[in-house]
Amino acid sequence: AAGALEFEQRPDTLAAIDTAIHACRKCPIGALENEAVMGEGSRDASLMIVGEQPGDQEDRAGRPFVGPAGQLLDVHLEQAGIDRRRAYVTNTVKHFKYVQRGKRRLHQNPGAKEIDTCRWWIEAERAIVKPKLVLAMGASAARGMLGKTVSISRARGEPILLEDGSELWITAHPSYLLRLEGTAREEQARLFDADLVAVAERLA
Ligand code: URA
Repeated sequence: AAGALEFEQRPDTLAAIDTAIHACRKCPIGALENEAVMGEGSRDASLMIVGEQPGDQEDRAGRPFVGPAGQLLDVHLEQAGIDRRRAYVTNTVKHFKYVQRGKRRLHQNPGAKEIDTCRWWIEAERAIVKPKLVLAMGASAARGMLGKTVSISRARGEPILLEDGSELWITAHPSYLLRLEGTAREEQARLFDADLVAVAERLA
């Protein structure tokens, strides 16, 4: 499904998607005219890792998950024995949504309509990479994969079978961990690790 708006024919190479997302103005975030950030990683990856949207640093670098959330993700992936370089890492929404406050650009959550519009691109990426497993991190990624809102705490821990036979695993977003402190953070980090280990076991 194309979401709220009609798109043209789906690009069938990652390079074509990269070009097309830079020109995409189908939602108000694209209209901010900052850089679009394409997914990166192996075209033959058996694991696709999906985040929400590029942050400030990702927007500047033009690469997904290179800022604080990405660094935390890297630590947890390594602990679980998942090699990021062998995965395909991407975002549900391809542009950074923010409000300008002086020199700072403050992250804004993408809205349901923006997610539903942009999910057309992850579907295009998924049709090319054909991962065996998709790890959706956070509510936006879960909605991007399913087209509806689900509760992370209820959806995590068990795979959801997708229409092409691949498995969707839903977990929290590493930015959520970054916002917590103390025992709440430890508890969420444990749950996050458990989800990653379950994914690593399915990949093995
Ligand atoms: N958060 C995301 O969801 N994606 C990124 O690429 C960076 C931070």
